[in-house]
Amino acid sequence: MEIFCVNGPHQLRGELTVRGAKNSVLKLMAATLLAPGRSVISNVPRILDVSIMSELLRRLGCGIDYDPEAGTISIDVPEEPGIQADYELVRAMRASICVLGPLTGRMRAAHVALPGGDAIGSRGLDMHQAGLEAMGAQAHLDHGYFIAEAPAGLHGAEIHLPFPSVGATENLVMAATLATGTTTIDNAAKEPEIIDICLMLQAMGAKISGIGTKTLTVEGVERLHPVEHRVVGDRIVAGSWAFAAAITGGDITVRGIDPQALPHVFKHLRDAGAEVSALPGSSGSRGLLAGIAAANSTGAHDMGFRVIGPQRPHSIRVATLPFPGFPTDLQPFVVALNAIADGVGLLTENLFEARWRFVHELARLGADVTIDGNHALVSGVEKLSGAEVEASDIRAGAALVIAGLAAEGCTEVSGVEHIDRGYEGFVEQLQALGADVTRVKKPEPFDIESLA
Ligand code: UD1
Repeated sequence: MEIFCVNGPHQLRGELTVRGAKNSVLKLMAATLLAPGRSVISNVPRILDVSIMSELLRRLGCGIDYDPEAGTISIDVPEEPGIQADYELVRAMRASICVLGPLTGRMRAAHVALPGGDAIGSRGLDMHQAGLEAMGAQAHLDHGYFIAEAPAGLHGAEIHLPFPSVGATENLVMAATLATGTTTIDNAAKEPEIIDICLMLQAMGAKISGIGTKTLTVEGVERLHPVEHRVVGDRIVAGSWAFAAAITGGDITVRGIDPQALPHVFKHLRDAGAEVSALPGSSGSRGLLAGIAAANSTGAHDMGFRVIGPQRPHSIRVATLPFPGFPTDLQPFVVALNAIADGVGLLTENLFEARWRFVHELARLGADVTIDGNHALVSGVEKLSGAEVEASDIRAGAALVIAGLAAEGCTEVSGVEHIDRGYEGFVEQLQALGADVTRVKKPEPFDIESLA
């Protein structure tokens, strides 16, 4: 078993560049299924989920050439890709569900195993199903598989999402690109990753308007063509480093991301007493869509931000909401910040149920957190103290490491395979920022069942 050994307290100082967003690249890879031929995606992060998605596409008949060092992946899509995404892969990565839209749109059928993924509460597929049915597909569950079939092809439809689901918006917009007629998706998600996939689809020949707004209109075309596309920067990884600066009282400059992708995050960090400034290349006035388009064509090396943490943060009150609200994926960092802040802080989780396993681990470091339904009330303590803790998902794991840097002594974080799924070279980046963190092998934990 591998663990991260974190020695604190330690302030993080320095500069880093984030690569492409995990939550975008996986969908962009799936979107290549819409056009036969060779598409190339760049700014690809070196994370396990990219390898899982590569294997899924390989099993659908695609030729994959992945260069993790260069951060590029070339996907050669056949004229007749397969239509089945196996349980073995889907259970390892929920994002596999994003092949549903492109396969139904292009191959008129998709059989996708029901996903597993992070242990962060139940997640339905009803909006994916209702949207595809409105476009003429027949959809049902069969032996653990989501089956969508549209023998006559999909047609345009007016779809209203009851909630701006990221995954449903992505699947439906991909499916609509090759449908006959016009599809409108109202109450669509507006996350930067949605903008990114729409820009890539446009470059493939799709006709999409309303990008970055809550209503997407897609005029179906007969055929799309392969594309070269650069993945939008990872705002969640960037936001994690922003919190890391605030929590450790450090000073971190992050490049490779348009700061407009993190509006509420910066507001709350300023409330906590941090100094936040945008790098000169990040023009806030041009709007997020133009910012992402500019980053996609030129790279985003001049874009980014700097966060200088306060000596001790003030507690903050945060509610997670769909974009442009505060991202749910950063909520463990809010709890970690409040744990060492001056005052009583509050985090309200509005998107998912039960992301609180992390809180029990944080309590082992001495955090004072009370959970009430979807609220976490945190009374800040002056110091956390290092302990053995376990990461339960990607973001919770990274937040535990950062909390460990604010704690006295040694914190051992297990479950690091979760962190590896979302953060490329996390330990190396922490070391480059001056942290005393190492990845070490440890014997497997004592097996209680051996006593039976
Ligand atoms: C994506 C991100 C995830 C992020 C989330 C919200 C990826 C791989 N994952 O997840 O990191 O936390 O967006 O920003 O991109 N829902 C339904 N029925 C549906 C679809 C969704 O009830 O048909 C519910 C879910 O259970 C959840 C909420 O809507 O409570 C949000 O889900 P959604 O926006 O779809 O998130 P994901 O695409 O799964």
